Amino acid sequence: MGESKPFSWEYRQPAKGREAFRIRGGAKLSGRVRASGAKNSALKLMAAAALTGDRVTLENVPGILDIDVLAETLADLGVEIARPAPGRIELQAADVEWLFVPLEAAAKMRASFMLLGPLLSRFGRVIISNPGGDRIGRRPVNLHVDAMRALGAEIDYRNGYYFAKAPGRLIGAEIVFPQVTVMGTENAMLAAVLARGTTIIRPAAQEPEVDDLIKLLNAMGAQVERVKPDVIEVQGVASLGGATHAVMPDRIEAGTFAAAAAVIGGDVAVDGVEPSHMRAFLELLERLGVEHRIEDDPGDPARKTLRVIGRAPGEGDYRPTDIETSPYPGLPTDIQPPAGLILARAAGTSSIRETIFEDRLEWLSGLRAFGAQVEIVNSREARVTGPTTFVAAEAEIPDLRAGATLMLAALAAQGESRIHGAHHVRRGYAAIEERFRALGADVTHESEEVAP
Ligand code: EPZ
Repeated sequence: MGESKPFSWEYRQPAKGREAFRIRGGAKLSGRVRASGAKNSALKLMAAAALTGDRVTLENVPGILDIDVLAETLADLGVEIARPAPGRIELQAADVEWLFVPLEAAAKMRASFMLLGPLLSRFGRVIISNPGGDRIGRRPVNLHVDAMRALGAEIDYRNGYYFAKAPGRLIGAEIVFPQVTVMGTENAMLAAVLARGTTIIRPAAQEPEVDDLIKLLNAMGAQVERVKPDVIEVQGVASLGGATHAVMPDRIEAGTFAAAAAVIGGDVAVDGVEPSHMRAFLELLERLGVEHRIEDDPGDPARKTLRVIGRAPGEGDYRPTDIETSPYPGLPTDIQPPAGLILARAAGTSSIRETIFEDRLEWLSGLRAFGAQVEIVNSREARVTGPTTFVAAEAEIPDLRAGATLMLAALAAQGESRIHGAHHVRRGYAAIEERFRALGADVTHESEEVAP
């Protein structure tokens, strides 16, 4: 195997219309692919740049649509943004002119709500649109709003907008979440770093992306510490400065490529991973009997390689097992669809329990078209009976992770599939076609006109 190659970094959106992936499946995968920087970290790191007038430089930023959307939202507020080299973004929020995040930004991406904490705490006010729901279920922001109120903010909700004010400064407080929330924890931290006094956040989300944000904040001069696995303490400071930070690897993207090797078959080395972030997923591969090992990363001594030697259909099946998603360190809800797809290659019945989001099993109804035997018991529970011989199909992508997973099903099927709604996948997977093509897959895209 050679080096894992870099790919073009900024995503180029088609001029108009939608895109579909055209996939001719059935070829085994072989080669190396390098994990991108983590979407769910990079977005929060970009939001953190709004906390200072100094320059924040991020490296290893993934070339995905969500990053472009947040960059555009920040630029509209007056943040200066430069992207001088692949993976590098420089943000300087010296002249923030608008403290307003419109519906257009929030509707495109829920993570725009991450601007609530930094703008409120630095400027004392912000008007921000409710991001509303999502295809994976109702996704309220009440916990973010309650956290800001605990810090002394006054927040009204009118016509779809939160009008937030912090007379004087926010004041450190104990924030007790009734349930674990990743972005809620992060928004609370982004507000508390500039508050007066000490803030305690509990239960704090334990996802490694939260710790990546802590690292950047501390490099900017904040005082944030995870004092217990589920407790974060923040000592507020008067101001923050610039910093440079490299985004941690994307454990969900890495897991998706690993699942691809398991489902489609072949020998894939996913470089640039941090195995300690992927324990629950690696343990699942073990239970399923998917051959895999951790090797040294030939291109980066600080990282590891996850090598997966998958069985192509006809080369043997995996063992059925039951999976349940839960907050970190449990099995991530974001890896549930690709992991669930491996279950379809197991001989027997497996069950999937989704405990985080209410409609995140919807992708399984799409999977039926590819020949899988699926029983959706309710919005939280499903059974999959394999081994499945995937067949080519036409499908509509409902959301990001579902879309990537249906691509894998199509890649495992003999014949040509068409998957509509490619932009969902581009939100979170950089250069997905090029990278699969480099592994020997036949994936292209075609533009589709939208009916007027
Ligand atoms: C983050 O969303 C991720 N998004 C999601 O990634 C991920 O699925 C999720 O964490 C869980 O790991 C980003 O980081 C940008 P939560 P987040 O708050 O923070 C409920 C992907 O595919 N809740 O931890 O919004 C909520 O409905 C995605 O990359 C409230 O009730 O998730 C859910 O049931 C999509 N009120 C639970 O908490 C609130 O105010 C946990 O959600 C907030 C959350």
